[in-house]
Amino acid sequence: MARQYQVDRGKHTKFKVISRWTSYHGNTLGALALSGHTGRRRYYQPLIQHTPHIVPAYCYRCPFGRKPESCDLECADDLEKMILYEGPDSVSAFMAEPVVGATAGALVPKDGYFQKIREICDRYDVLLIVDEVMTGIGRTGRNFAIEHWGVAPDMIVCAKGLGAGYYPVFGVITTEAIHGAIKNGNGNFVHGHTYSQNPLACATGIAVLDYIDRHDLVTRSAKMGAYLLEKLKFLYRHPIVGDVRGLGLFAGVEFVRSRETKETFDPALKINALVSNLAFDKGLIVYPGGGGADGMRGDHALLAPPFIITEAQIDQLVAILDEAIGDISKELDI
Ligand SMILES: Cc1ncc(COP(=O)(O)O)c(C=O)c1O
Repeated sequence: MARQYQVDRGKHTKFKVISRWTSYHGNTLGALALSGHTGRRRYYQPLIQHTPHIVPAYCYRCPFGRKPESCDLECADDLEKMILYEGPDSVSAFMAEPVVGATAGALVPKDGYFQKIREICDRYDVLLIVDEVMTGIGRTGRNFAIEHWGVAPDMIVCAKGLGAGYYPVFGVITTEAIHGAIKNGNGNFVHGHTYSQNPLACATGIAVLDYIDRHDLVTRSAKMGAYLLEKLKFLYRHPIVGDVRGLGLFAGVEFVRSRETKETFDPALKINALVSNLAFDKGLIVYPGGGGADGMRGDHALLAPPFIITEAQIDQLVAILDEAIGDISKELDI
């Protein structure tokens, strides 16, 4: 859509999409090219197009070695540098997850990050695409996570929550300007798929949105999310818990060999899978992930409980995770 928009408004030279390391946008070749996760790209490497990636907004492992007090949002400035290196006339769009999901475990950017990103995109006539496949539809306590920072993107991609996690449905939301350019340009959006505009998928999406609305579940996600994050801090009693973070009912726990140095575990130990398997045996499903620190190293558990979770169930969730982490710490003798 970004490319067709640029062509249809006469900006034929704009085609590059800049994205970030420590990100995931999908497993088809185009989406994988933009994804910044070494482990997931490795097998496909010779097949994927090279596209520019900037550093992630990863406060716990700041790429610039800053602390929150000394941070000047250098990670956002990295976008401007990349646009200038690549040539603004060649850059079509920048794409990012507002809160990173699978590849790092709920990385929440510092306030001001996306405002600065928006300014930079505007300065160089670059579209801002937010990938809200995980964070959209209330997951972070707002309809869309990008709303936390009062930023209006040019496109939002959303999926998982739209089908409540049960039915395959996705959507791309865009602006009148982009719609208008395509309508007045080619007139057709050249992007058909066998099952696009699927009526059953659309009916499911509408039913889910209606249910969320009627039960005010986005407000609930914000409220229960605050409770979850507070309770998860209990896990800091384990030295292997390096960072606990999140927004709404979207949280991450990052594991380290040393909290002092933030040293990661040897990926061969598969710490994230161990935590996840143990938690599963005890009745809790978490999304394990690795590679957040440098593409291959780093372990975390991502949590995305249902919006109807109760406080008692959150207590139970934390108790199970606490037990699982405790068992593994004992095994590792840490
Ligand atoms: C943030 C994000 N974007 C995109 C995708 C890819 O979606 P799909 O697997 O439906 O292609 C995922 C899937 O996990 C995701 O988490």
